[in-house]
Amino acid sequence: MKTIHNTILFVKEKLQNAEGGHDWFHIERVYNNALLIADSEKCDLEVVKLAALLHDIADSKFHDGDESIGPKIAREFLILQDIADDKINHIISIIENMSFKGGRFEAKFHSKELEIVQDADRLDAIGAIGIARAFNYGGFKNRPLYNPNIQPNLNMSKEEYKNSESPTLNHFYEKLLLLKDKMNTETGKKIAQKRHDFMVIFLGQFYAEWDGEA
Ligand code: ADP
Ligand code: NI
Repeated sequence: MKTIHNTILFVKEKLQNAEGGHDWFHIERVYNNALLIADSEKCDLEVVKLAALLHDIADSKFHDGDESIGPKIAREFLILQDIADDKINHIISIIENMSFKGGRFEAKFHSKELEIVQDADRLDAIGAIGIARAFNYGGFKNRPLYNPNIQPNLNMSKEEYKNSESPTLNHFYEKLLLLKDKMNTETGKKIAQKRHDFMVIFLGQFYAEWDGEA
């Protein structure tokens, strides 16, 4: 499929200088997760593929919080491809609603294709890769790994959440451990449970080592 091929080239180019948790390999993993989930769902596969590929081309965290840039660039690209208008609108709605990152904020738009791509993206935020990405992001922000005196805050507003300076371990309680119960699809739920269990084991080991367990 020519469109998919073009899109892959476009996204790779856009993400050339992206940080480690948000680079082309993140997109590739989300794309593969989305294909796996889509196998058991009735959906428009082209919409799923294009939304997965284009969902992170301009992260708001790196554009002064502006969440409209990514969807805008994606739309400009899609208009130049041979894709029907209603499909373009659908893909853009998915991307816009994916920016309700994580599990704490409800999306306004709903479709099976959004459910699939959102699950695919969430799976990449948990498990071993999720742990690696969280610490990578925390390092980028120069956050402490953990501070036993700072409790996780489960009641932050969207703004507070964005500007939060919490230690990276708190991010597990504020977002990552909540994701398994936010999964939309059966396949997504099954994989999420496995990755969730791994994070729980990781946290247990982390505290044991923190406390100087031999
Ligand atoms: P995505 O691009 O996958 O939709 P985000 O942009 O919200 O997700 O986050 C990208 C990665 O950075 C994720 O793995 C997420 O867990 C991690 N991350 C985001 N915010 C924080 C934070 N405050 N502390 C640690 N990791 C974070
Ligand atoms: Ni993503």
